[in-house]
Amino acid sequence: MPELIQTVHTVPAVSIARRQASESSGDLLAIPVFEKDDFASVGGVDAATGGEVSRAFQSGEFTGKLYELFLTPAGRDGWRPRRVVLVGAGPRTEYSTERLRRIATTAGLAARQRRVSRLSVLHRHDSGLDMARAAQAMAEGILLANFDGAMYKTDDQPRTWLESAELVFAPGTPDLERAAERGRVLGECSNLARELSNEPGNTLTPRVFADRAAELAREVGLTVEILDERRIAELGMGLLLGVAKGSHEPPRVIVIRHEPKGAPASPVLGLVGKGITFDTGGISIKPAENMDRMKDDMAGGAAVLGATIAAARLGARVRIISVIPSTENMPGGHAIKPGDILRSASGKTVEVLNTDAEGRLILGDGLWYARQLGATHLVDVATLTGACVVALGKSTSGLFGRPLSWVEAVRRAADRAGDRSWPMPIFDDYKEQLKSEIADFTNTGGRPAGAITAALFIKEFVGEHPWAHLDIAGTAWAEDAKPYQQKGATGVAVRTLAELALDAETLNL
Ligand code: BES
Ligand code: MN
Ligand code: ZN
Repeated sequence: MPELIQTVHTVPAVSIARRQASESSGDLLAIPVFEKDDFASVGGVDAATGGEVSRAFQSGEFTGKLYELFLTPAGRDGWRPRRVVLVGAGPRTEYSTERLRRIATTAGLAARQRRVSRLSVLHRHDSGLDMARAAQAMAEGILLANFDGAMYKTDDQPRTWLESAELVFAPGTPDLERAAERGRVLGECSNLARELSNEPGNTLTPRVFADRAAELAREVGLTVEILDERRIAELGMGLLLGVAKGSHEPPRVIVIRHEPKGAPASPVLGLVGKGITFDTGGISIKPAENMDRMKDDMAGGAAVLGATIAAARLGARVRIISVIPSTENMPGGHAIKPGDILRSASGKTVEVLNTDAEGRLILGDGLWYARQLGATHLVDVATLTGACVVALGKSTSGLFGRPLSWVEAVRRAADRAGDRSWPMPIFDDYKEQLKSEIADFTNTGGRPAGAITAALFIKEFVGEHPWAHLDIAGTAWAEDAKPYQQKGATGVAVRTLAELALDAETLNL
């Protein structure tokens, strides 16, 4: 197995500075600039740049269009930062915390590209954003920029990391340190999930995933239990065992508990993440093109891990049971075949019509186990269906579940987190597509409404518990680089689940 060669992410110091822009201490000051901005609130920046800012605006070199960049020296007129970068913030009326988070990532990536490791980002006081939310989003965005997926490159090209990030607020601004710290931890835990998702199938097997998860979770005081193949068999998890049969690598179930002192007995969040470390499709094998991407088929599991660690570090006052069933999905002489019958731990039987619909199988046993351990409110996260990508594309996760109040709680958490999601129906009518002649149901419902029938399959294993399901097949991996997002693993759903946990005490569940 190749050794990891490069650092994948680092954690800059994040501080709140209460001072004028001219006094900011970074080597580069990032200023969000609206379309048709008047600059009244960023007094002196034009003079500091020797008129470059107004010149760029007049010539149309810089217009304030979202994520547009304009970098210029700024040392004149007593300004401390030697350079400023204007980051387009779009129309003032459409500004939001979500945009600010992306603007901060854009600024962070621009700084790293220019070998700047001490960055300041100015908060626009005339933006109307809630300041605590803004500070958190800025910290998150900056942390997300401090990630590099080229972890196995042997060249010794220097990489620039952000070492410090200063969030510049007006003098006299009240306490924002906790918000910034929250953002820093959420960003760091998102990067942790990205790092794991980026690991290929040969370095991150179910055993390695389990060991890494256990080590990371124990470091922050969480209780971890790893179920091996014997224990999994004892529990009767026939769906997970069935998927694992084609592989030489044994399956694992990662169980992590957050049980803070003084937290109420209920709710108990049950977070369940799909942990397929590589999905070949099994005997219903996938085409070769882009199959490499299936190394990230454990992104849901990584998100659950990252969020649980974040919840522990931030002292979320809610009990959490996280369950990550993990296996490879491989063809082979022992592999399950189309038509095979599996018996789940819950007792229900499944006719496996397509061995590539493996995620829902392992989630079925995972959700059952979370309930066994006492979870009362369930959320599962999975790179589950290509159909979800067809329905919602690459920026929005599919959101399913019931009752509406619980699904809405998850949706609001996702909104705060900057993870886009959109509700999808789970009408009973679709269940006909899962009818089996020989067993309780099949594991695929054909092409129509593929994301929905997958959700309905999972629903068979959640009992009466409130349950939400996030299909992140489209959102876990970025195919193209954007100003605010690098190619590769995105860390989607880490912040959603952490926000949900941090908010659980106010939800009245
Ligand atoms: N891991 C895949 C889903 C996926 C597809 C994730 C594309 C990310 C990008 C999942 O296990 C799968 O293969 N689903 C099948 C289900 C089908 C056989 C019913 C699919 O979507 O094609
Ligand atoms: Mn599959
Ligand atoms: Zn899969």
